[in-house]
Amino acid sequence: MSQKIQAVRGMNDLLPAQIDIWHQVEAALREIGWRYGYQEIRTPMLEKTALFKQSIGDQTDIVEKEMYTFTDSGEESLSLRPEATASTVRACIEHGALHNRQERLWYMGPMFRRERPQKGRYRQFHQFGIEAFGWSGPDIDGEIIRVGERIWKQLKVQGISLHINTLGSEVSRRKYRAALSAYLSQHKNALDDDSLRRLESNPLRILDSKNLNTQEIIASSPSMMDYLEFEEKQHFDDLCASLEIHSIDYVIDPKLVRGLDYYTSTVFEWTTEQLGAQSAVCAGGRYDTLVGNRGGKPTPAIGFAMGMERLVELVEMQQNIQVEDKNAIYFADVCDPASQVSSVLAERLRDNDFRVISHYGGGKLRNQLKRADQSGAAVAIILGDSEYRNETVQIKNLRQNGSQTEVHFDQLIQWCVHNLADSKD
Ligand code: HAM
Repeated sequence: MSQKIQAVRGMNDLLPAQIDIWHQVEAALREIGWRYGYQEIRTPMLEKTALFKQSIGDQTDIVEKEMYTFTDSGEESLSLRPEATASTVRACIEHGALHNRQERLWYMGPMFRRERPQKGRYRQFHQFGIEAFGWSGPDIDGEIIRVGERIWKQLKVQGISLHINTLGSEVSRRKYRAALSAYLSQHKNALDDDSLRRLESNPLRILDSKNLNTQEIIASSPSMMDYLEFEEKQHFDDLCASLEIHSIDYVIDPKLVRGLDYYTSTVFEWTTEQLGAQSAVCAGGRYDTLVGNRGGKPTPAIGFAMGMERLVELVEMQQNIQVEDKNAIYFADVCDPASQVSSVLAERLRDNDFRVISHYGGGKLRNQLKRADQSGAAVAIILGDSEYRNETVQIKNLRQNGSQTEVHFDQLIQWCVHNLADSKD
């Protein structure tokens, strides 16, 4: 007997019942990107593994443990993209998009990480991201954060907090790293295994250790803020001032370091307590050296990516989106000769931009109306024997009082335009 094949663990089907809310969230994200002057970029889901190793860092969890990597035709190592910043940078360099130009870009699509699946954490998940290339001042940092804030506002998502930090420049970070390593080395005996390993490779990542003993040690560790150059401190202070002008609440979190190596200067995360362990809904920061390091003309850059499954869950949880389809018409299929006519009338309605769901296959009117109700349509059109003879239809309101109106074939479009067109797309 053949075995039932199921989806790969951590990779989800999005079923029709969930699609409406996804479409509405996607439409809001696109619209907000457009409102701030960002343009869409689409890059391949598969890239050369070296791109992610060199951009995200080959000692990060993402690259070390989580990528879906295979060798193509026994020659080249390829990986499914775990995120899209590296790909966006590659594409911009490859197409000469950053030569004496500034770019504001957005993307949306699936990403792949072989993490341990749990609620809110998947192996295929979706991100909406924005990236701005060519601005070095704090004003764009403020804009990027305001795009996030606008998304919460537009989708009426509440209870999201903003955490910000700065990682300084490569020079100041090197000094800080040395001071942090020296401090942590004094407490080597009390560090957990993971942190001990990171002490050599990436001591900054120890700052976001979940180990309680390690957290105690970190509490008195040196702070990055004390190692910033004057302009770097100024940049951060200006960003804070701009957030205050826009009344955006924030928490400065000196332990916020991010799990990707390309970050410099400003980093931030939007988190919520409503999603259990997976609290980060959106995260990002500056990566001022990545374009230059990847062979492009040195270009400052900043962006964020938002986990769309987490965003959709928040929207659903807070019940902010109504999925009832006020524009749709359900065409019942009542008597035989009428079905030809009903298909002609249905096409005429579609010509006039209405969404029409035809029943087909007959059956009791009661059952058809039940289906009509489940479809979310606003009205059902019924064409029975007597209506057929009179060249009329009955239009039943499915959403309000269930009232029924008889309308002549010739008046049908006009009736629908008059009564349903307000809610037309
Ligand atoms: P990230 O922090 O790795 O950053 O991911 C951004 C967001 O993607 C997270 O805050 C979370 O909402 C979502 N996410 C990550 N992994 C998963 C998962 N396994 N399942 C569900 N959601 C997930 C980046 O990806 C950077 N590229 C962000 C960026 C853009 N920085 C600058 N520009």
